[in-house]
Amino acid sequence: MMHHQHSVIAIDGPAASGKSSVSRRLSSRLGYLHVNSGIMYRALTWSVLRSGIQTGDSGAVVNHLDGLDICCGISGEEATLTVDGIDPGSELKSSEVNTGVSTVSKIPEVRDVLVAKQREYLDVADIVMEGRDIGSVVFPETPYKFYIDASAEIRAKRRMDEGIEDNLAERDAVDSGRETSPLVIAENAVVIDTSEMTLEEVLLELIDRLREQGLDILN
Ligand code: DC
Repeated sequence: MMHHQHSVIAIDGPAASGKSSVSRRLSSRLGYLHVNSGIMYRALTWSVLRSGIQTGDSGAVVNHLDGLDICCGISGEEATLTVDGIDPGSELKSSEVNTGVSTVSKIPEVRDVLVAKQREYLDVADIVMEGRDIGSVVFPETPYKFYIDASAEIRAKRRMDEGIEDNLAERDAVDSGRETSPLVIAENAVVIDTSEMTLEEVLLELIDRLREQGLDILN
């Protein structure tokens, strides 16, 4: 087992649960690097669609991934990513990507490649990483695990307020039902239902829990 000097805070939960907003706030409060693992799955999906490959054709998706240069980096406090030298930017959040991403994310070979890239970040920085399987599969050894939830109604409303079409219920069903590293509440994860909470309240709750768990946090 590898021993890292760096800390990782794992934040998992369903789509539009508020993970990204709170992960970004938490990482900047702690001076940690923010890594949204979902953008890696989105970037691959974006590239697959652009190449005219069907997301359901897992053989073709894996072949495509083999020849692809997904380059993960860091800019300031944020993880960055390019695909064959291109930053897909806001196209990562398009409705086409929303529709295809869960199908691509089910493929075990895809997860192997992207999980390896996610783990590399811990070699270089303290990180807050958000996703679906961060506490359960990517960094199961971390003591700092959260599962951020919110009711289906609230999540749908939050996404609608962003003005992006997203098939939340379908994505959640596929992400939770897949065979390889499905969305689960990791063992020992702290579950926070944010339905009735403000972002600030969620942030304070996380910080309280992290302190209880022994993480050294300056005021
Ligand atoms: O967090 P997000 O909604 O941007 O993630 C997009 C999709 O990527 C999600 O529906 C499933 C997949 N994903 C995953 O399978 N594992 C992760 N750790 C993060 C995302």
